[in-house]
Amino acid sequence: AQNRVYIKNGQVVNHDRTFKADVYIEDGIIKFVGPASDITVPGGVRTIDASGKLILPGGIDPHTHFQLKFGGQVSVDDFYKGTRAAVAGGTTTIIDFVLPNKGESLLDAYDTWRSWADGKVCCDYAFHVGLTWWSKSVSNEMKTLCEEHGINSFKMFMAYKGLYQLNDTEMLEALERIKELNGVAMVHAENGDIIARNVNKLLKAGVTGPEGHELSRQEEVEAEAVNRACVLAHQSKVPLYVSKATSKLSAEVIGRAKRSGYCVFGETLASSIGKCMNGVKKSQQLYYITSPPIREPAETPRQLMKSLAYDDLQTTGSDNCTFNCSQKESGLNDFSKIPNGVNGVEDRMSIVWEKGVHAGLLDPCRFVAITSTNAAKIFNLYPQKGRIAAGSDADVLIWDPNQTRKISKETHHHACDFNIFEGMVCHGVPEMVLVRGRVCVENGQVRVAEGFGRFLETPVNPPFVYDALNGKTNGEEEEVAVNGNMKKLNINEQLEIE
Ligand code: URP
Ligand code: ZN
Ligand code: ZN
Repeated sequence: AQNRVYIKNGQVVNHDRTFKADVYIEDGIIKFVGPASDITVPGGVRTIDASGKLILPGGIDPHTHFQLKFGGQVSVDDFYKGTRAAVAGGTTTIIDFVLPNKGESLLDAYDTWRSWADGKVCCDYAFHVGLTWWSKSVSNEMKTLCEEHGINSFKMFMAYKGLYQLNDTEMLEALERIKELNGVAMVHAENGDIIARNVNKLLKAGVTGPEGHELSRQEEVEAEAVNRACVLAHQSKVPLYVSKATSKLSAEVIGRAKRSGYCVFGETLASSIGKCMNGVKKSQQLYYITSPPIREPAETPRQLMKSLAYDDLQTTGSDNCTFNCSQKESGLNDFSKIPNGVNGVEDRMSIVWEKGVHAGLLDPCRFVAITSTNAAKIFNLYPQKGRIAAGSDADVLIWDPNQTRKISKETHHHACDFNIFEGMVCHGVPEMVLVRGRVCVENGQVRVAEGFGRFLETPVNPPFVYDALNGKTNGEEEEVAVNGNMKKLNINEQLEIE
């Protein structure tokens, strides 16, 4: 039976414009967007009246860690619970991270992650692959991942010394490889060497509680790594995506790099927009531990939202990596043992709406850009995802900007027993959520289908430094002096001349 849905009388919002239109969906694809007078809808089609509601492209969360083994613990939202929570909140695509163990084949890890996700995911999903260690074989496998498995993005860790951290030379080699493959480079940007020293010093001094976490990795420790990542990527002429800038300082560094012509994109998180540590009771602090930290200053959430509004930052993710209270409590006597990560995949859309649109800092088009379209463009899922248009997947969010909802662990769809946004009231409620044409949320009920989601191949972008958001290539060549003559060369070629 064909799956057909007709949505009438809504206000469509895309990243570039908003207009009144009807939307007709057939077999998971949007077939028509336009005035009612221009479409004849077949009989017997399910019709939804969206009067007074907004019709948005489903959210894309470019940063989740479902079922992640980290510090001897496994995060409790698996690919079923995690994607169900995503859909409940209006997110219809997630991008998770394949993180190989040290020495493990990237292709093996990719297969393992696919086996955890396929059959469980309730919405479509893609992967980034972590370069959690570096070698010739890793470099070789990257090519296979790009060419045969639809991977276009590789993440490097500048933190987690002794676990995932790469040094600058390794990063430069990896960046040059990503450039050869026309991929996107991603970083977890914190200075892991500084953090390792600070952790030791703090523990020695008897600072064992959760307050030690932020003390070991303050804002400048993040911003230094963000700046270094920008420079390393610029040297290698690779587009850079800075995962999770959680501080004002980092957002400023990214904005400055962008304005001076670097191809860099910045993400911040629902947790950093929705919370600050100021006011969190000491006994509760360990449940909020994530890296980089949710910052102390009360003004940080609003500053990050302004950075999103002014295009210093381009995307919002969740870094959803949830642990139960008992798991977090394993670090009661040593903050460095607290498994890192918090929730966010379910509440991200509401939080960005509340702190952005409802607070008067964003218009609805910018909301769509930073919750969906920009991620689709950067990771090459656009316009299949991230747009309400004929031919796009029918991932549709019918959004009620006037309703409110209260966030609570009692009603959330996560597997975890804690919610960092507990008690927060947000304007912006997902009235209905369609995943490839399938109605998954209505009347406050969530009815997902386990395994309905598909793996999305994300082909690599066009060559050179590709500015996915501006639709152009840049920085292809520059004039350099070679033996007294000016020549057009790119920096990589220049290095080969001796
Ligand atoms: O602190 C977090 N979010 N843990 C998950 C791993 C990572 O750094 O992304
Ligand atoms: Zn990280
Ligand atoms: Zn992460």
